[in-house]
Amino acid sequence: MDKIVIKYGGSVQKGGSAADGFLDELASLAHTGGSWAVVHGGGAEISEWLKRVGHTSEFKNGQRITDDLTLAVVEMVLCGRVGKRIARHLAACGVRAASVSGEDDRMLVARPLDRGEYGHVGEIETVNTGLLTALWEQGYVPVVAPLGVGADGRVYNINADVAAGQIAGALGADLLVLATDVTGVKESADSATVIPELTVAEAMAMIRTGCAVGGMIPKLTSAAVAIAGGVRTVVIASGEEPGLLARVMQGQSAGTRIVGNREGSVHHA
Ligand SMILES: Nc1ncnc2c1ncn2[C@@H]1O[C@H](COP(=O)(O)OP(=O)(O)OP(=O)(O)O)[C@@H](O)[C@H]1O
Ligand SMILES: [Mg+2]
Repeated sequence: MDKIVIKYGGSVQKGGSAADGFLDELASLAHTGGSWAVVHGGGAEISEWLKRVGHTSEFKNGQRITDDLTLAVVEMVLCGRVGKRIARHLAACGVRAASVSGEDDRMLVARPLDRGEYGHVGEIETVNTGLLTALWEQGYVPVVAPLGVGADGRVYNINADVAAGQIAGALGADLLVLATDVTGVKESADSATVIPELTVAEAMAMIRTGCAVGGMIPKLTSAAVAIAGGVRTVVIASGEEPGLLARVMQGQSAGTRIVGNREGSVHHA
């Protein structure tokens, strides 16, 4: 049975509005089988709540530099609003969904990213999949807020793409879809041309050369981590595209597919 991890980008989430074609499609596919897990972002909503409390964030390499107040807002928004809203929507579609955080059961054990250069942003040391598999065994779709917990018990803000890539690898997922607000990885941030397929090496080169910037950086590194972790298919595509998930599951082209190596090419380790 297929294991599918979906990263639902904050950039494409439909706020409080009832119409959410992406979650509707996810729910209808989940009814047909497979084990599904959703990892969600919430960048826009976090920024909106930070603004309400008179605070702003700076970003570096696509990561939100996270001070004490920002961490509190990140946790409140992701665990208190976004995760619950997604679980509610799935439940309304008849899917049993449970909104949890990477803190629960120490699912995501983290340490400071780059020795604290980003404040309370964490990098994942270990993924403990027990809670996720327990939920799967009971027929639930886990909805995961990307927060982590340190060996010291502290909370860490983890980029949702990075969390999704590592969770997908740890679960032995067959498919990881990073659903976002662009139709795929483009030749540059302001280009109109979507690249249908990238090898991991090409994806890393896009970061080095500055062709992928901001929020695309953690997506490409996440794709690389997932593939290294054994995930067969990783797709970066628009969550606005009707029927996206069905297309991807049927092996049709959609957005940008990240592959380990191009078919037929010789792998130089
Ligand atoms: N080469 C590129 N191709 C496509 N998009 C790019 C590229 N380089 C940078 N980007 C940017 O990456 C953004 C997507 O990442 P972003 O973090 O904003 O959204 P998200 O991950 O879906 O939301 P969240 O972080 O809230 O979960 C795009 O809107 C685009 O501006
Ligand atoms: Mg992002």
